[in-house]
Amino acid sequence: MPVPDLERWRDEFPILARSVYMISNSLGAMPRKTAQNLAEYAETWATRGVRAWEERWWEMPLEVGNKVARVIGAPAGSVSMHENVTTAHLVALSCLHPTPARGVLVCSEMDFPSMMYLYRAQQAAGYELRIVPAEADLTVRTDRMLDAIDGSTAVVALSHVLFRTSYIMDAAAIIARAHEVGAKVILDTYQSAGIIPVDVTALETDFAVGGCLKWLCGGPGNAFLYTRPDVLAKVRPAFTGWVSHRAPFAFDTGPMDDFARGDAMRMMNGTPSIPAYYAALAGLDIINEVGVDRIREKSQRLSARLLALVDEYGFHSAASRDPRRLAGTVAVNVPDALQVARTLKARDFVVDYRPPVGVRISAHFYNTMEEVEAVMAEIKDIVAKKDYTAGDARASLVT
Ligand SMILES: Cc1ncc(COP(=O)(O)O)c(C=O)c1O
Repeated sequence: MPVPDLERWRDEFPILARSVYMISNSLGAMPRKTAQNLAEYAETWATRGVRAWEERWWEMPLEVGNKVARVIGAPAGSVSMHENVTTAHLVALSCLHPTPARGVLVCSEMDFPSMMYLYRAQQAAGYELRIVPAEADLTVRTDRMLDAIDGSTAVVALSHVLFRTSYIMDAAAIIARAHEVGAKVILDTYQSAGIIPVDVTALETDFAVGGCLKWLCGGPGNAFLYTRPDVLAKVRPAFTGWVSHRAPFAFDTGPMDDFARGDAMRMMNGTPSIPAYYAALAGLDIINEVGVDRIREKSQRLSARLLALVDEYGFHSAASRDPRRLAGTVAVNVPDALQVARTLKARDFVVDYRPPVGVRISAHFYNTMEEVEAVMAEIKDIVAKKDYTAGDARASLVT
């Protein structure tokens, strides 16, 4: 069953000509144009030097943030850019102040470990953690999340799509419950933005974090933070710095209260990572041009085929069988899954491995039905023959 639509974009991603690239849940393919944009960055630095700051660079976080805003349904001027999601999350947390009466941070056991380390560290700042346990199938039940949120909840840190299983949480219901009891929400869209429709405005979340590295094909160093406009008007992040000042070059050392920017750059702190922003431009433009609705439609067709082949070959998958609950990744569990994943990578089928779900396979808009068939046939072959490639020793560090 060919899926000819959207395949014209394949030429824009060089790595697709040399490998079956199904790892956009981890690192999206680099657009061809990114090389030009990075060359432009180098040329600007080489020829304009420090003048580049006033000519483009200083406001570039907003330029990139506005492209992200289009993807996630946010208004222009509401998205700031940060080094990584952990940092962006800390900026949001630094706007909130736990009290003895309202000091609980609700999260789930299936959140990304870096976020869990950050939440645990917040206990020193006065938060009490309430971690909602996962089910045997590695999903988290909405009713358990709802039950965990009460009048003592200061903040709900909600992973929109769980990274292990790609399970889509019922963000609308959980955010509504949080607001009902007066709690704030920080929504982690890292595994949702760019692969399933996300509308932060309709969801009314207070904050949303995410990054361009994965589904947005923007490379590392491009995490974002959305702050709802009415929240933005009031907040004062404790993790702040001169980039959030309306007149940074006045070098005033007095309190910033009356001088903070009104737009999302209020949420920033130190000197922005300019080369990363150049790297993010092309991917964001492509995602916006293709449109997340069309991306979702294609990804669902490819994932359905992946799951049909999982069943046909007798493998296991932690993926939800309800297509409305499954985002972009299908985990395929087979014996010796880590070795199978490494062997696949060595044979130019680029996937990854996460315990305990096995080989993670992500079909983005630029993948084809033929690639889905090919990667599954390759897994079947490796499993049958137990013919593992030793692979690169460094692969034990990054799986
Ligand atoms: C859902 C989710 N949240 C957070 C992170 C961590 O992001 P960062 O390394 O940018 O802090 C990841 C990383 O893969 C993730 O998948």
